[in-house]
Amino acid sequence: MYRIGSLPQVTLKWAQTLDGQLADDSDQSQWISGVEERRYTHRLRATHQAILVGAQTFLKDLCQLTVRDIEFDGQQPARVIIDPRGRVLKALKENSHLLLSLQMGPRRTYLLTDILDDYDDIEELFDPKKLLRVRYRFNDFRQWLHGSLRQLVLVFEKTEVRRLTHLMVEGGATTLSEFLKAGLAHRLEVAISPLILGGRRHRVGTGSLLKNVDRFEVESKEQLGSDILLRYKVMTPTCTQRLTI
Ligand SMILES: NC(=O)c1ccc[n+]([C@@H]2O[C@H](COP(=O)([O-])OP(=O)(O)OC[C@H]3O[C@@H](n4cnc5c(N)ncnc54)[C@H](OP(=O)(O)O)[C@@H]3O)[C@@H](O)[C@H]2O)c1
Repeated sequence: MYRIGSLPQVTLKWAQTLDGQLADDSDQSQWISGVEERRYTHRLRATHQAILVGAQTFLKDLCQLTVRDIEFDGQQPARVIIDPRGRVLKALKENSHLLLSLQMGPRRTYLLTDILDDYDDIEELFDPKKLLRVRYRFNDFRQWLHGSLRQLVLVFEKTEVRRLTHLMVEGGATTLSEFLKAGLAHRLEVAISPLILGGRRHRVGTGSLLKNVDRFEVESKEQLGSDILLRYKVMTPTCTQRLTI
């Protein structure tokens, strides 16, 4: 039986252009938003126990997802990478520098993957203090996402000395969209930057019809340098309505 209590509160955070693009057509997203907005992102990270990105974002940006550039003496959030079909695992197998860089730093990285036995030998090289594989059978992506997050909460509680109650998802657009479609988002933090890029690939969307669409309630808005940050509450976190496992 699927228990909503075992899922963390999820904040989706991204920066987009005026025309809704999270990256340009050559997959560049550094930097859409300005310095103040990026500093704010670090403050927001500090209020979550874990920061999650999709495999594509990790492999492209090799993002650290740490809290930095602000005064902070708390525990760094864990890094979580979704890797449903083992793309990151494959890259780690082929690139020892990537494996080394993933295991650097003070906190742990969790790789959420399918149960892929082909990569058991690479796992032998993992330092469990730094890198852990959380496995869940991949079938349907949304079910996998729910199942993997529930697994993550259990593993996290055992390995860290704290509970995973707040998870921040930082992109890319595919991952953010899948969290929305799976009814897993509780809050949105969207930075709008004064740029127009054009293109269609890097947009957050659910493909819903207007009559079925989730409504968001504005909580606050703030100007950060030249960017506008909008904070929304998701009116109906739909985990229970859309997916029964
Ligand atoms: N502006 C911002 O705030 C921001 C933030 C973060 C990233 N970015 C940019 O976003 C770009 C990357 O974003 P992206 O949207 O291409 O990728 P992404 O969201 O980082 O990664 C896509 C992930 O979704 C998985 N996935 C999605 N649907 C799936 C399905 N139906 N079945 C199986 N797996 C599924 C993919 O699995 P597989 O790996 O198995 O395919 C992959 O792990 C980069 O250019 C990055 O710089 C921008």
